[in-house]
Amino acid sequence: MKTVINTTTTHVPALRFNWLTGFYDRLIAATMPERAFKMALVQQAGIRPGDQVLDFGTGTATLSILLAEQHPDADVKGVDVDEKVLSIARRKVEESSAAVRLVRYDGNKLPFESRTFDRAVSSLVFHHLTRSQRQQALRELNRVLVPGGEVHIADWGKPANGLQRLLFYLVQLLDGFETTADSVRGILPEMLYEAGFDNVEETGKYKTVFGTLRMWRCTKW
Ligand SMILES: C[S@@+](CC[C@H](N)C(=O)[O-])C[C@H]1O[C@@H](n2cnc3c(N)ncnc32)[C@H](O)[C@@H]1O
Repeated sequence: MKTVINTTTTHVPALRFNWLTGFYDRLIAATMPERAFKMALVQQAGIRPGDQVLDFGTGTATLSILLAEQHPDADVKGVDVDEKVLSIARRKVEESSAAVRLVRYDGNKLPFESRTFDRAVSSLVFHHLTRSQRQQALRELNRVLVPGGEVHIADWGKPANGLQRLLFYLVQLLDGFETTADSVRGILPEMLYEAGFDNVEETGKYKTVFGTLRMWRCTKW
């Protein structure tokens, strides 16, 4: 798999190749129900005034900015491993009126104290991670959430039918088969339980031109 080598870990960039990162926003906006599913994620997160909110794998910060605009009383932070995508995110945050703090980390330990966040949200990230990276990320999300804190995820999941499975090959060809195979298997809910979360629930499903996007919520006890 083609990956970018960071100082401490490897990762799959937003559109797999660094040189495509600048096209990410345009491609997603043109081909996906982006606004609909990101707004749905913001709404299902049930953010309260004063909440600490983490956008895991913020990318170009579209979701982080939506979160901050919809909940100006919350404290929104976006974290990502990729400096190039974060430079686009920083520009977008500066151009918006949203108060979002963007942080780069090494893909291993999140740079936050344990029990910091009330909510973690994440969109289109987990299919970029190998199984061991995903396990590590979920353990870290569990660590940085307060007891009773919630995770809200949108990502590619088990295809809803044969056509959706065929369409998902496009994502697999772009992002790689190693990280996306578990999306087809639909094992994220199981992995959430294994990482210590509870009340794992699927909350929505979008059939798209790239396959089936699913949404989940779960709680840290
Ligand atoms: C497809 S983009 C999604 C970006 C954004 N969340 C969105 O919905 O538009 C996937 C993002 O995951 C990030 N990523 C890859 N490996 C990561 C890791 N180990 N931890 C956090 N983010 C990671 C990439 O840098 C990229 O920005």
